[in-house]
Amino acid sequence: MSGGRIPREFIDELLVRVDIVDLIDSHVPLKKTGTNYVARCPFHVEKTPSFSVSRKKQFFHCFGCGASGNAISFLMDFSHLDFVEAVEDLATFAGLDVPRESASNVAAHAKTDLNGLYLVMEQVAAFYVEQLRASADGKKAVAYLKTRGVKNEIAGNFMLGYAPNQYQVLVKQFNQQLLVDAGLLGVNDNGSIYARFRDRLVFPIRDKRARIIGFGGRALDDSLPKYLNSPETPLFHKSREVYGLYELLKKNPKPQKILMVEGYMDVIALAQFGIDYAVAALGTATSQAHLDLLFRFSSELVFCFDGDNAGKEAAWKAIASVFPSLKGGRKIRVMLLPENHDPDSLVREEGLGKFSKRVEEAELLSDYFFKHFSSDLKFTDMEMRHNLITEAESYLTQLPIGALREMMVKELSSLAKLHILDNEAILAYKKQERKHRLKSGRPSVPGFVIALLLQNPKLIEIVEQKEINWNLLEFDGIERFKNILQVIADKKPTNYGVLLEAYRDHADEAIVKKLASLDLLTPEDGVEAEFSGALDKLLAQGRESRCARLLVKEKTMGLSPQEKEELKRLLAVR
Ligand code: UTP
Ligand code: MN
Repeated sequence: MSGGRIPREFIDELLVRVDIVDLIDSHVPLKKTGTNYVARCPFHVEKTPSFSVSRKKQFFHCFGCGASGNAISFLMDFSHLDFVEAVEDLATFAGLDVPRESASNVAAHAKTDLNGLYLVMEQVAAFYVEQLRASADGKKAVAYLKTRGVKNEIAGNFMLGYAPNQYQVLVKQFNQQLLVDAGLLGVNDNGSIYARFRDRLVFPIRDKRARIIGFGGRALDDSLPKYLNSPETPLFHKSREVYGLYELLKKNPKPQKILMVEGYMDVIALAQFGIDYAVAALGTATSQAHLDLLFRFSSELVFCFDGDNAGKEAAWKAIASVFPSLKGGRKIRVMLLPENHDPDSLVREEGLGKFSKRVEEAELLSDYFFKHFSSDLKFTDMEMRHNLITEAESYLTQLPIGALREMMVKELSSLAKLHILDNEAILAYKKQERKHRLKSGRPSVPGFVIALLLQNPKLIEIVEQKEINWNLLEFDGIERFKNILQVIADKKPTNYGVLLEAYRDHADEAIVKKLASLDLLTPEDGVEAEFSGALDKLLAQGRESRCARLLVKEKTMGLSPQEKEELKRLLAVR
């Protein structure tokens, strides 16, 4: 199915029609306990169930790894689908057709253009393969593959090809504008056209649905640049894609782990030696988007770096950037290679067994992290140590709240104790630790009010009944509170799953999900009273602080007649 945009109203209707309990039960058998349905979590490995699905909220949540969301989110995560694919799947489950907004709109045009680009990429890749096999110049590339020890079968699996030296051959067979848009032809400042890949071995880069989105090209000798990549195009976004993912998933749709290496040739050599779970970043640093992509397929990533200083530095950089993605249940390991080796050379020298053992023994990210700090801590003076610990702390606070963060904060404070004989510093870290623990415990009053509202959108009626003076209400998260009320007023969601849909990819998505998954221990028939009580408390606090401010102003600068009137009213209800 293709065409225009899917109307929002359809998506909301779908979320009302489908019962998330039935949907999830058809993928992961659920057991009823009390009002919830539980199972062992499909998103991480566990012995006892911490995955629960709420029929009332139309929401799933895992207390172990933090995975959560509505029916669409479940399909995206469980079946590795993008948003539109998940909506289509859900519609099929409900027996509905997905309506599309008029096909004459802009989005539909963009879509057909993309289809043209995908097609030309596919045809050019086939052309490059043909050139490698059959052309006179292609023999150079075949010879090169031979010197690199790449077998025919692997070259075929990865669809390796040869890009000939002239651009005319491409232009003769394909539409010139499409070739330019696909990044296969470049245009000089003076308007002349050139082929991007000339006399190179080419590596097609495929997305998970087997579509060719870009190419890498290697020189056949020492000429520079050694590698060229496709430029950014409507199909290709370097920082969001990895090389080898399609080939990996074809072998194993649910890999136990994914090995992240640096180069095209590394992925290929590893596959040839039986390590068919490696992918490579495309000459960019590992990004958040890479991790989000890879964690959709496996809960364990192993980063592989060269053993030299540059490799260690790259490892450190990658680690710093992965902290925010480290939800519970997700595991990252770090593997440093012996000096002067890359995975290609090492697996050829050692073979499958020894290389796999290195992967198995790769260090957990948290261990690697602390080893780095404690070895630095040993050699530095007091002030440096303090700075290092502050730096480590700044990483840890980026971790999502949960068991891993708690464990790492504990570890850091014991390291700090070992290395800083300064009592004050120890106290400071203890305080910090306490703060982290508090943060993951029961919510504050404003948090409680927002969480109750999210979990019971009908509570908006109580807010409406109260005729709140919004100028007097101030608390942490008030803007979020107002925003949620607005969404409820607009969408009139009958359950939380629908409400959540309004927060997909919103800056507040994580916090909204977190508040919604809190167990508030409020009995069903006490919800309204508790909400009303907590809201009154916030209103009283707001009046109190306004009152205090007016009293100070009265003493210092004096009050206007209106302010005097207001103060009198406030004091009367106190
Ligand atoms: P390396 O230079 O480490 O190459 O680049 P390699 O993979 O070991 O290559 P071989 O073995 O000499 O063929 C690692 C990765 O960095 C990117 C490519 O993605 C490459 O696979 N790179 C490297 C570039 O984009 N451009 C370059 O000029 C060099
Ligand atoms: Mn190499």
